[in-house]
Amino acid sequence: MAILPILEIPDPRLRRISEPVQEVNDAIRTLAADMLETMYAAPGIGLAAAQVDVPLRLLVMDLTDGPEDADGNRTKNPRIFINPEILDPSEDYSVYNEGCLSVPDQYADVERPATVRVRWLDEQGLAHDEVLEGLLATCLQHEMDHLNGIIFIDHLSRLKRLMVLKKLDKFRQEQSRKKAFA
Ligand code: NI
Repeated sequence: MAILPILEIPDPRLRRISEPVQEVNDAIRTLAADMLETMYAAPGIGLAAAQVDVPLRLLVMDLTDGPEDADGNRTKNPRIFINPEILDPSEDYSVYNEGCLSVPDQYADVERPATVRVRWLDEQGLAHDEVLEGLLATCLQHEMDHLNGIIFIDHLSRLKRLMVLKKLDKFRQEQSRKKAFA
Protein backbone atom coordinates (compact mmCIF):
# COMPACT_ATOMS: atom_id res chain seq x y z
CA MET A 1 0.00 0.00 0.00
CA ALA A 2 1.10 3.56 -0.56
CA ILE A 3 0.20 7.06 0.52
CA LEU A 4 -0.58 9.10 -2.60
CA PRO A 5 -0.11 12.87 -2.98
CA ILE A 6 -3.43 14.75 -2.76
CA LEU A 7 -4.11 17.49 -5.32
CA GLU A 8 -5.15 20.85 -3.88
CA ILE A 9 -7.00 23.80 -5.39
CA PRO A 10 -6.46 25.54 -7.74
CA ASP A 11 -4.95 22.47 -9.51
CA PRO A 12 -6.85 22.18 -12.82
CA ARG A 13 -6.72 18.37 -12.61
CA LEU A 14 -9.38 18.62 -9.88
CA ARG A 15 -11.73 20.03 -12.54
CA ARG A 16 -11.67 17.03 -14.88
CA ILE A 17 -14.71 14.80 -15.36
CA SER A 18 -13.80 11.29 -14.21
CA GLU A 19 -14.41 8.28 -16.47
CA PRO A 20 -16.34 5.16 -15.45
CA VAL A 21 -14.28 2.19 -14.21
CA GLN A 22 -14.47 -0.39 -17.01
CA GLU A 23 -13.49 -3.46 -15.00
CA VAL A 24 -13.18 -4.03 -11.25
CA ASN A 25 -9.78 -5.76 -11.20
CA ASP A 26 -6.68 -5.96 -9.00
CA ALA A 27 -5.41 -2.59 -10.23
CA ILE A 28 -8.66 -0.96 -9.08
CA ARG A 29 -8.54 -2.80 -5.74
CA THR A 30 -4.93 -1.65 -5.21
CA LEU A 31 -5.90 1.93 -6.06
CA ALA A 32 -8.82 1.77 -3.58
CA ALA A 33 -6.52 0.36 -0.84
CA ASP A 34 -3.96 3.14 -1.49
CA MET A 35 -6.73 5.75 -1.42
CA LEU A 36 -7.98 4.44 1.94
CA GLU A 37 -4.45 4.55 3.38
CA THR A 38 -4.03 8.10 2.03
CA MET A 39 -7.40 9.15 3.49
CA TYR A 40 -6.66 7.69 6.95
CA ALA A 41 -3.23 9.33 7.01
CA ALA A 42 -4.55 12.77 6.04
CA PRO A 43 -6.84 12.28 8.09
CA GLY A 44 -10.15 12.55 6.25
CA ILE A 45 -13.50 10.76 5.99
CA GLY A 46 -13.74 10.58 2.20
CA LEU A 47 -11.53 10.72 -0.88
CA ALA A 48 -12.24 10.60 -4.61
CA ALA A 49 -9.77 9.12 -7.11
CA ALA A 50 -9.72 12.48 -8.90
CA GLN A 51 -8.06 13.97 -5.79
CA VAL A 52 -5.08 11.63 -6.20
CA ASP A 53 -4.80 12.41 -9.93
CA VAL A 54 -6.67 9.33 -11.18
CA PRO A 55 -9.74 10.52 -13.16
CA LEU A 56 -11.86 7.40 -12.57
CA ARG A 57 -15.28 7.14 -10.92
CA LEU A 58 -14.08 5.62 -7.67
CA LEU A 59 -14.32 6.93 -4.13
CA VAL A 60 -13.62 5.73 -0.63
CA MET A 61 -15.18 6.75 2.67
CA ASP A 62 -15.00 5.85 6.34
CA LEU A 63 -17.21 7.75 8.74
CA THR A 64 -16.21 5.66 11.73
CA ASP A 65 -15.73 7.74 14.80
CA GLY A 66 -15.62 4.90 17.28
CA PRO A 67 -13.69 4.73 20.56
CA GLU A 68 -9.94 4.34 20.39
CA ASP A 69 -8.29 1.14 21.55
CA ALA A 70 -5.16 1.03 23.76
CA ASP A 71 -2.97 1.80 20.73
CA GLY A 72 -5.03 4.85 19.80
CA ASN A 73 -6.59 3.11 16.77
CA ARG A 74 -10.27 3.34 15.91
CA THR A 75 -12.30 0.46 14.49
CA LYS A 76 -12.27 0.98 10.76
CA ASN A 77 -15.26 0.68 8.46
CA PRO A 78 -13.90 1.40 4.98
CA ARG A 79 -16.42 1.71 2.15
CA ILE A 80 -15.53 1.65 -1.54
CA PHE A 81 -17.91 3.06 -4.16
CA ILE A 82 -17.17 2.30 -7.82
CA ASN A 83 -19.19 4.02 -10.57
CA PRO A 84 -21.65 5.50 -8.03
CA GLU A 85 -24.87 7.01 -9.34
CA ILE A 86 -27.33 9.13 -7.38
CA LEU A 87 -31.02 8.45 -7.89
CA ASP A 88 -34.00 10.05 -6.16
CA PRO A 89 -32.39 12.89 -4.18
CA SER A 90 -34.83 13.95 -1.46
CA GLU A 91 -36.62 17.29 -1.59
CA ASP A 92 -35.63 18.06 1.97
CA TYR A 93 -32.16 19.42 2.51
CA SER A 94 -29.67 19.24 5.33
CA VAL A 95 -26.74 21.50 6.09
CA TYR A 96 -23.33 20.23 7.09
CA ASN A 97 -20.10 22.07 7.82
CA GLU A 98 -17.97 20.50 5.09
CA GLY A 99 -14.24 20.36 4.60
CA CYS A 100 -12.08 18.85 1.86
CA LEU A 101 -8.54 17.46 1.71
CA SER A 102 -8.10 19.48 -1.51
CA VAL A 103 -8.98 22.71 0.35
CA PRO A 104 -6.84 22.22 3.48
CA ASP A 105 -8.08 23.43 6.86
CA GLN A 106 -11.15 25.26 5.44
CA TYR A 107 -14.78 24.55 6.39
CA ALA A 108 -18.11 25.95 5.28
CA ASP A 109 -21.80 25.10 5.53
CA VAL A 110 -23.17 23.37 2.42
CA GLU A 111 -26.79 22.47 1.80
CA ARG A 112 -27.53 19.17 0.03
CA PRO A 113 -30.44 16.74 -0.32
CA ALA A 114 -30.79 14.99 3.06
CA THR A 115 -31.39 11.52 1.59
CA VAL A 116 -30.19 9.96 -1.66
CA ARG A 117 -30.63 6.57 -3.27
CA VAL A 118 -27.26 5.40 -4.57
CA ARG A 119 -26.25 2.62 -6.93
CA TRP A 120 -22.64 1.47 -7.07
CA LEU A 121 -20.26 -1.47 -7.43
CA ASP A 122 -18.11 -2.65 -4.55
CA GLU A 123 -14.48 -3.80 -4.81
CA GLN A 124 -15.67 -7.30 -5.80
CA GLY A 125 -17.72 -5.85 -8.65
CA LEU A 126 -21.03 -6.57 -6.87
CA ALA A 127 -23.89 -4.12 -7.44
CA HIS A 128 -25.50 -2.27 -4.50
CA ASP A 129 -28.59 -0.08 -4.35
CA GLU A 130 -29.16 1.67 -1.01
CA VAL A 131 -30.81 4.73 0.44
CA LEU A 132 -28.22 6.78 2.33
CA GLU A 133 -28.97 9.48 4.85
CA GLY A 134 -27.23 11.73 7.37
CA LEU A 135 -23.48 12.27 7.11
CA LEU A 136 -23.18 9.27 4.77
CA ALA A 137 -25.49 10.97 2.22
CA THR A 138 -23.67 14.30 2.59
CA CYS A 139 -20.21 12.79 2.27
CA LEU A 140 -21.18 10.67 -0.73
CA GLN A 141 -22.56 13.71 -2.55
CA HIS A 142 -19.42 15.71 -1.71
CA GLU A 143 -17.17 12.94 -3.08
CA MET A 144 -19.37 12.41 -6.14
CA ASP A 145 -19.00 16.11 -6.91
CA HIS A 146 -15.23 15.49 -7.25
CA LEU A 147 -15.95 12.96 -10.02
CA ASN A 148 -17.66 15.78 -11.89
CA GLY A 149 -14.93 18.36 -11.27
CA ILE A 150 -16.94 20.16 -8.57
CA ILE A 151 -15.49 21.26 -5.23
CA PHE A 152 -17.61 22.08 -2.17
CA ILE A 153 -16.74 25.77 -2.28
CA ASP A 154 -18.51 25.93 -5.69
CA HIS A 155 -21.77 25.58 -3.72
CA LEU A 156 -21.07 28.74 -1.68
CA SER A 157 -22.07 32.29 -2.48
CA ARG A 158 -19.35 34.32 -4.24
CA LEU A 159 -18.65 36.30 -1.07
CA LYS A 160 -18.33 33.20 1.13
CA ARG A 161 -16.15 31.50 -1.48
CA LEU A 162 -13.78 34.49 -1.61
CA MET A 163 -13.58 34.45 2.19
CA VAL A 164 -12.62 30.77 2.19
CA LEU A 165 -9.98 31.35 -0.51
CA LYS A 166 -8.53 34.26 1.46
CA LYS A 167 -8.36 32.14 4.62
CA LEU A 168 -6.73 29.35 2.62
CA ASP A 169 -4.04 31.77 1.38
CA LYS A 170 -3.37 32.84 4.95
CA PHE A 171 -3.23 29.23 6.13
CA ARG A 172 -0.72 28.34 3.40
CA GLN A 173 1.46 31.35 4.24
CA GLU A 174 1.49 30.32 7.90
CA GLN A 175 2.37 26.74 6.94
CA SER A 176 5.31 27.85 4.80
CA ARG A 177 6.49 30.22 7.56
CA LYS A 178 6.38 27.32 10.03
CA LYS A 179 8.39 25.20 7.62
CA ALA A 180 10.95 27.96 7.16
CA PHE A 181 11.55 28.13 10.93
CA ALA A 182 11.40 24.37 11.58
NI1 NI B 1 -13.46 16.90 -1.04
